[in-house]
Amino acid sequence: MASKTILTTTLTAIALAAAMTGCKGSEPAATTTGASGEPVSVSETIEAREANFKAIAKANKAAKEALEDDQPDFAVVGASATSIQTDAGKILDLFPKGSGKESGEKTEALPAIWDKPAEFKTAADRLATAAGKLKTAADAKDAAAAKLAMGEIGGACKGCHENFREKKQ
Ligand code: HEC
Repeated sequence: MASKTILTTTLTAIALAAAMTGCKGSEPAATTTGASGEPVSVSETIEAREANFKAIAKANKAAKEALEDDQPDFAVVGASATSIQTDAGKILDLFPKGSGKESGEKTEALPAIWDKPAEFKTAADRLATAAGKLKTAADAKDAAAAKLAMGEIGGACKGCHENFREKKQ
């Protein structure tokens, strides 16, 4: 019993020492911590958030095009709204600490994201709320309300990009 405890303690110490040595490497790979505590490479995280924004932009375009029709296909508008709302909910988790420019990776994410996390959350919530309004309008087959919600969605994109995304040169 006692020797088992010692063995466990020794193994823990070895694991700890190994982990610490890993941390002292001269060129630590840029990683952040994933949802379940596992290390995730920053480049993968950045790719995932770019894909998420592309999906948001695609759904936004689909809704916009559907609403240009005299007889809008509200099923398309509703599905796009749900898609935007779901993806808006993923934004915060796709910006873990350490995934900005300091990682050495190419990204347009500004330090303000981590300096002002409450404002960044508000900006992401704004998009989710506007997408929720678009869904309600689509369900009610209300084109005027849907167009208003589209304006709010556009404002949410712009508002966040102005404050948290590096401007294109
Ligand atoms: C909460 C903030 C926020 C909101 C809301 C937001 N964006 Fe962004 N977006 C960003 C940031 C930050 C980046 C830069 C990410 C990077 O380079 O790592 C970005 C990048 C993008 C990109 C480039 C993706 C790529 O391939 O590099 C597109 C396209 C985009 N956003 C579209 C949109 C559209 C369309 C909306 C609204 C429907 C929107 N975004 C709403 C913050 C936001």
